[in-house]
Amino acid sequence: MTKKRILTGRRTFLLGLGTLAGMGTFTVAGQFKRLNSQSQTITDLGRNFAVAGGASLRDRAANKGLIYGSQGHYKFLSKDPELAALYAQESALLVPGNDLKWKDLRPSPDRFDFTKADWMAEFARTHGMLFRGHTLVWHKGLPSWFKETVNSRNAEQMLLEHIATVAGRYAGKMHSWDVVNEAITLRDGRSDGLRETPWLEFLGPEYIDIAFRAAAEADPQALLVYNDNGLDSDSSKTEKKRAAVLRLLERLKSNGTPIHALGTQAHLGESAIDSKYTGLRKFLSDVADLGLKILVTEMDVIDKSFPTDLVVRDRMVAEVYENYLSAVLDEPAVIAVVTWGLSDRHTWLSKKKPREDNMPVRPLPFDAKLKPKLAHNTMALAFDRAPMRDGQIVLPRQTPFYDIQGHWAQVYIQALAAKNIISGFPDETFRPNASVTRAEFAAIITKAFTPVQQNNKAIAFQDVPQNFWGYNAIQTTSQSGFLAGYPNGTFQPGQQIPRAQVLVSLASGLKLSSDDTSVLSVYQDVAQIPAYATNKVAAATQQKIVVNYPTVKLLSPNRNATRAEVAAFVYQALVNAGKAEPISSPYVV
Ligand code: XIL
Repeated sequence: MTKKRILTGRRTFLLGLGTLAGMGTFTVAGQFKRLNSQSQTITDLGRNFAVAGGASLRDRAANKGLIYGSQGHYKFLSKDPELAALYAQESALLVPGNDLKWKDLRPSPDRFDFTKADWMAEFARTHGMLFRGHTLVWHKGLPSWFKETVNSRNAEQMLLEHIATVAGRYAGKMHSWDVVNEAITLRDGRSDGLRETPWLEFLGPEYIDIAFRAAAEADPQALLVYNDNGLDSDSSKTEKKRAAVLRLLERLKSNGTPIHALGTQAHLGESAIDSKYTGLRKFLSDVADLGLKILVTEMDVIDKSFPTDLVVRDRMVAEVYENYLSAVLDEPAVIAVVTWGLSDRHTWLSKKKPREDNMPVRPLPFDAKLKPKLAHNTMALAFDRAPMRDGQIVLPRQTPFYDIQGHWAQVYIQALAAKNIISGFPDETFRPNASVTRAEFAAIITKAFTPVQQNNKAIAFQDVPQNFWGYNAIQTTSQSGFLAGYPNGTFQPGQQIPRAQVLVSLASGLKLSSDDTSVLSVYQDVAQIPAYATNKVAAATQQKIVVNYPTVKLLSPNRNATRAEVAAFVYQALVNAGKAEPISSPYVV
């Protein structure tokens, strides 16, 4: 293996060129000139970054009692199923990048629009992710009306109303809130380090305490976080900022202000490549001594001045992740690591810190094609090596479908999916409102009830050849009394199954019947129930198998059943058979 030494002035730079692909460009000295002049180094490029196992960052972190999370945007997650699936796989926590900011929530002074934020909260919930709020108070991300509307007379009222409304809406559903973001900057020259913001101007330094108290009142369960940037590097400027933040935290604590954690953004710059993090470690330990937890809230790596070569660049980014995380995860008060994005497909750094060579930036653990990069490996390694945290984190249960959030049948669908009775599509959707064919229904019944065939003689349906995918399920269900063929000797496997047929099938298979059809009078559309179905539908009604959405009194017996409706009926039938726990729903008849 050829090795090349490049002296950086501070450290020796060992490049395992033989192991690198795309090394042609790499040997061009000019490419490293700038890099070297900034004395950035990367150690041991030839080393093996492989991590054992294919576990997700979510699981990797959770093994140590840590939370790994990522920032995402409604506008991307709601339209990109592939991306959404990656979030669900890798992240235990979701934080909307912008959807909870004033600008996005408040189109006018008297109106809140929670459409995007609610979607994100539901996305997190249905995918078993914690939800994190960013941010209630910030000098940026304000709507255009803010300037002419908010003044010293109404500022406190506006702030309190905002926090009560927004934090109140997600009360009990938020893991944590960035209550105040970026309140410190040394640039404004104040002795307390506070940034000159409208809130400071109108309310004085106490605006921070006011905000935390309001957040605690609106959501007593959320972890309340003070979040800030530029706390990481070894420079003396950063040391001063850390000192100012520590003073603020001390002040808040001694005021009895309900603050629970510090968030450190960790948008790591070029200097991070050889940071020692001595000052950062000391700072984190001081913060922990105040009784505060710590979250890394917005991690990404600015690769603006890293070399063009992708292999080298990815290694440098990966190493920044590893070095940083191994330093901060040594501090037991650090409970979570959140990256500002998950894949290079969407990152704010494309606009904020574009590269001079016009190559796309690569700051995150997954590339734009959603493939894991070395940074993913080094993050996993850092989690593996992190000291075990006290206490286990309990993550919400994961469901694989992202299109059932808020759906009336969501609980039924999730419950059946957890039992492997139903499944979704490869794009991670369930398509709850699509119809169901008789063959598909037979397959669901077979999985739900493992029906016993009464005789072993195959029924020769003329339209179900033996090589048909649903042949076995159709045989099983038709020989066990759940389904029957048509008098003309067909089964009609591709026919969409109407609601009445589903109920008849379930009642027949479970051997339920009723001589008393008076119960059917609960249905306004009782007259539409076909004669063959009355007895069985009556039995199904008595046994609480019927679920009618949106109107409990409307059976709509001849309408094709949707996948959601089949899930609800089958679930109720399982409850009837003693094979599932009852779930309460306002739509059960
Ligand atoms: C950024 C978003 O990522 C961008 O999409 C938006 O245009 C501006 O804000 N620190 C923060 C975040 O606390 O709110 C910022 O997010 C990134 C820096």
